[in-house]
Amino acid sequence: MTADPTYRGFALDAETALALLQWQAELGADEPCLDAPIDRYDMPDRAAPPAPAAAVQAPLALPEDPAQDHAALAEAMAAGARTLAELAAAQEAFDGIDLKKGARNFCFADGNPGARVMIIGEAPGEEEDRQGRPFVGRAGQLLDLMFGAIGLSRQAVDAERALYITNVLPWRPPGNRRPEATEMAMMLPFLRRHVELIQPDLLVLMGNTPCMAALNRQGILKLRGQWTEAFGLPTLPMAHPAYLLRTPLAKREAWADLLSIAARLEP
Ligand code: URA
Repeated sequence: MTADPTYRGFALDAETALALLQWQAELGADEPCLDAPIDRYDMPDRAAPPAPAAAVQAPLALPEDPAQDHAALAEAMAAGARTLAELAAAQEAFDGIDLKKGARNFCFADGNPGARVMIIGEAPGEEEDRQGRPFVGRAGQLLDLMFGAIGLSRQAVDAERALYITNVLPWRPPGNRRPEATEMAMMLPFLRRHVELIQPDLLVLMGNTPCMAALNRQGILKLRGQWTEAFGLPTLPMAHPAYLLRTPLAKREAWADLLSIAARLEP
């Protein structure tokens, strides 16, 4: 915004400027802009991304179909990551989906990597995109309360009480739209490797998107509460906390699911 005290003919006192900003936020604007709009999907790629970890730098032949090329690259980069730090570096460097261009921050994971419970959500929202951490907005606050009620926390140092949290996608889809099947498929090798490196005792799939990615199934209201297997581990689908915020009555079933997790963790 310029120092000009008017904006398109309106007097721009502090109150008007604040009202204008709030209105723009309600319309979905989530960052300040220049005078002319920028289409980030039509920009040359950003400055060179951080080099992937040494183990994943092997040059790969370029097949003709760029999507296949990227899929093969994702497999190779994920498989080559020997540690979480290498996986994060490889995933952040991966250029195979456009979401990366529109996101502010790469959002890898949060919590204690030694945790027995690993939660997989959908994708970063606005607040997660701002902070570069999963589940830190309203839904994330509810998620913390829910798991706190059975004695689990992402801050816990003790692995018995700890949570580890990630998402199917590490970049925010524009306007919080649902991830597309091609985006999920492209990032799946990273998620699989993520689970292998964490080696939790059990997985929790939050909502339809991780059920689609990990189980190739959807219909969370039917899937929730039924233990199944994903990536070779006991897995419980649960309703997403964003859904619970909109549908408080569903919290009763979520509580039953939390108790089922607590029971499963008992020695
Ligand atoms: N919803 C998700 O599924 N993941 C987040 O990180 C935030 C909201």
